Amino acid sequence: MSVIELTINDRSVRGDVESRVHLGDFLRDTQNLTGTHLGCEHGVCGACTVLVDGEPVRSCITFAVACDQQKVRTIEGFDDDELMKRLRRSFSIHHGLQCGYCTPGMLITARDIVRRFPDADEARIRLELSGNLCRCTGYMGIVAAIRAVLAELKENPISEVSVARAIVGDATTSTRAFQTFAAAPAGAPQAPVAASTASTDQPAAQRKGWTAIDDSFVVPFPLDKVWAFMGDLPSVTSCLPGAELVEHDGESVKGKIAIKFGPMSANFAGAARLERDDAAHRAVMRGAGQDNISRSRANGDVTYALSSEDDGEKTRVAVTLEYMLQGPLAQFSRSGLVKDFVRRMIADFGTRITAQLGGSARPEAALSASSKFNAGSLVWSVIWGRIRQLFGKGD
Ligand code: FES
Ligand code: FES
Repeated sequence: MSVIELTINDRSVRGDVESRVHLGDFLRDTQNLTGTHLGCEHGVCGACTVLVDGEPVRSCITFAVACDQQKVRTIEGFDDDELMKRLRRSFSIHHGLQCGYCTPGMLITARDIVRRFPDADEARIRLELSGNLCRCTGYMGIVAAIRAVLAELKENPISEVSVARAIVGDATTSTRAFQTFAAAPAGAPQAPVAASTASTDQPAAQRKGWTAIDDSFVVPFPLDKVWAFMGDLPSVTSCLPGAELVEHDGESVKGKIAIKFGPMSANFAGAARLERDDAAHRAVMRGAGQDNISRSRANGDVTYALSSEDDGEKTRVAVTLEYMLQGPLAQFSRSGLVKDFVRRMIADFGTRITAQLGGSARPEAALSASSKFNAGSLVWSVIWGRIRQLFGKGD
């Protein structure tokens, strides 16, 4: 049993909670906030969506202990929110609900869409809404309700929404970044096209809708040896579980990566280009791809910079991962759990590089096209890390 302190709908809450209790149960069973509905409890249907620190998350796959010191907002916490008032009214007018079971999650997701995509058309709304399932309406009314609110905002803006849009940006305008590389259709090779420098030269913090994660690891080998290894794309790829190199020419690569995160599976196919600065020992891999299962699209830059430590005996690899997801998987990309998961991936990557530089054989799983980055063990290590943090033991 752990003690957590968090803010729920602007109210400070302190509670005892078992480590395995998810946020949805915590909200419903201990806080009587039964507006958060539980459907699949597998992260698929979106009925349990709430905001954690302003980002939509699925409360059924978010552990309550992971929300310590965070701000949670449930459907009950929007009574004074003008945008939510408009959405609720519009859902009623356009028959955006029948039984209402999906509606709390739908409304919270709809609000997020309206805030991020001021010019969303029907296709965009359906794409962004595809992580929320409704078994009643056929979605016609829901989409119409969201479109009506978007139109109303143009005529009668809400200042809070304008400010939020200025901060998070209009994600629709970022689709240009996805034109950097053409994503490969299922099973087909693809050719990279000319990179657009207009967006890619900006740091993620300035790129609308992007998420940036910084981390580093140390490998016990001299900088020159590590730098040479990091330029060998097949070797680097073999250190990424689930990754498969389809072809490469030293600078450009086409590849695939399979990831499983809880109930969600993704098989991204795409292309990337490596830009190396030998003098600065700094490189950036810019890539784009599409998940052939959910049709989600990803754009990402991985920047790594090497520096010597311990009189040249060791090398620190500072990694910055900047990415943007669009489509159904986008709802998962911004949660704290996913960010922790990515950090574990980076640490795992460092471990594998160390093993290979030390002469270990390439991990067979990494070379198999069918191997999938089954994140189960990593997910548990992330959760365990958070629990250890909670007890002040770090991770
Ligand atoms: S109940 Fe959480 S996604 Fe279905
Ligand atoms: S209104 Fe019934 S599940 Fe959506």
